[in-house]
Amino acid sequence: MEYIDEITSLKNQVSFRGTLEVPEGIENVVIAGMGGSGIAGKIFQELYTKKPVSLVTSYDIPEFIGQKTLFVAISYSGNTEETIQAVNKAKKRGAQIRAISSGGKLAELVENTVIVPKGFQPRSAVGYLSVPLLRGFGLLDDKDVELTKNLLSDLDTHQTRFEEFGNDIFQNKSIPVIFGTPGLNAIAYRWKTQFNENAKVLAYSTSFPELNHNDTMALENTYRKDEFYFFVLTSRTPEKEISNRIRITSELCNIEMHKVEGEGNTVFANTFTLIHKGDYISYFLAKKRGVDPRDVAIIENLKRELAVS
Ligand code: F6R
Repeated sequence: MEYIDEITSLKNQVSFRGTLEVPEGIENVVIAGMGGSGIAGKIFQELYTKKPVSLVTSYDIPEFIGQKTLFVAISYSGNTEETIQAVNKAKKRGAQIRAISSGGKLAELVENTVIVPKGFQPRSAVGYLSVPLLRGFGLLDDKDVELTKNLLSDLDTHQTRFEEFGNDIFQNKSIPVIFGTPGLNAIAYRWKTQFNENAKVLAYSTSFPELNHNDTMALENTYRKDEFYFFVLTSRTPEKEISNRIRITSELCNIEMHKVEGEGNTVFANTFTLIHKGDYISYFLAKKRGVDPRDVAIIENLKRELAVS
């Protein structure tokens, strides 16, 4: 599959029917996942606020995990070392284990696994990996899916602006810096990781309002200031406090922020249209640079070497 086909498949991914089975009586949720699979957990953590949600992004698991924990392991390949080790540890604690994967060791290890379609780069399967969680916890309905699907289709036929962003970044050899806003921290991070893996450039993400308490001092004074390309991600109707912060920060620190808005009037639509926009921009930057957006050979080699060491 061409990488562009993976990107345009997002509109189909959002209508995936897979649903995580959520048991009664759990007190907390822990989601383990790395890289492109880990993003699904980050998105969920930001959207679900009824129970404590923690993320595991390494080999070890927190001490509080026990029988009242719903432990969800997400690994597209199903073979990621850190995630498999974390599952084994959570099993020993008696946690209720679920998984989302296209197969691999994880699907063998966890009876209750939502199986997603094969053939994608893990990071391109962000819809398949997120939807079962959102459905399982009642954060998604069919109307929302339909709306988002239409908005994503529409973006697929209006890519010029994303290509221009990619060209601009390429022209100046800039480092992308992505500012999230409340509810969009995970998406700012997703953009960063897509610049890393697709376009093979370092990138940085942080979020309003926290950045006003640290990064702000550097925004005015950092060296090589002209080498950064600033994005700010918002919904169509950001809170007034946040709009004010964006405007005032930009004025005081004398930086141009390229504002990119989500589409639609629901959290799901806003989240997934912003994911899509970032995917396109990093894809176009990759094309401009002449690098293959699909290639993750170094990550794969590293995994192989670790497995035999
Ligand atoms: C590769 C990618 C990586 C992987 C990560 C974990 O496309 O996006 O970030 O997601 O190495 O592997 P999986 O997702 O198979 O658990």
